[in-house]
Amino acid sequence: MYTIYGSSRKGNSEWLGVHALEGIPHESVDLANLMIQPVEDRRHHGGFLPIGDDYRRIVEQMLQHEDIVFITPIYWYSMSTKMKLFIDRFSESLRDEDLRFRERMQGKRFHLIAVGGDDPKVKGQALVMQFEHIAEFLGARLETAILAEGNAPGDVAHDQEALTEIDAFRQKMSEVYV
Ligand SMILES: Cc1cc2nc3c(=O)[nH]c(=O)nc-3n(C[C@H](O)[C@H](O)[C@H](O)COP(=O)(O)O)c2cc1C
Repeated sequence: MYTIYGSSRKGNSEWLGVHALEGIPHESVDLANLMIQPVEDRRHHGGFLPIGDDYRRIVEQMLQHEDIVFITPIYWYSMSTKMKLFIDRFSESLRDEDLRFRERMQGKRFHLIAVGGDDPKVKGQALVMQFEHIAEFLGARLETAILAEGNAPGDVAHDQEALTEIDAFRQKMSEVYV
């Protein structure tokens, strides 16, 4: 199980992610601590050039897992900038023959945990749909989508509905991994 944290701070989404994975063996990465450059679309101009940042190492780690948990704050009704930078680079990986990215993504299970301050259970549906499309395009499947409410750090601890969904997720994952 691989968890990817996408916030720019130690806040609600991280708190929820840690809570969701308590006691479950997993590997995790916090994108805030890493350098991931924006994708440069060279698909029709000679192919992608290697970029010497942290992306390749992270994607290699991710590909070794069947369950991938994307944990992000909602920024402007979408995922965080860091998360989007990471996912944009999948286009580069799709053309990377050594990586066999598309082949290795087949059948992977995606899980989305997102926190927002502006009616996320309704307005976060666009983000859920976005992850469904991303998963489908890659041959994976979005198995879980949890939208939680919180603005200041710590707020999310009061979203009882989300906490119930997080507990159910942890229970389900512990049956697979513990
Ligand atoms: C740049 C920025 C954009 C935001 N846009 C939204 C938004 O579109 N919808 C929403 O519900 N909350 C939005 N928020 C609020 C955050 O999602 C909210 O504070 C969340 O708890 C942050 O998660 P974190 O503590 O894990 O960083 C935004 C916050 C920032 C800093």
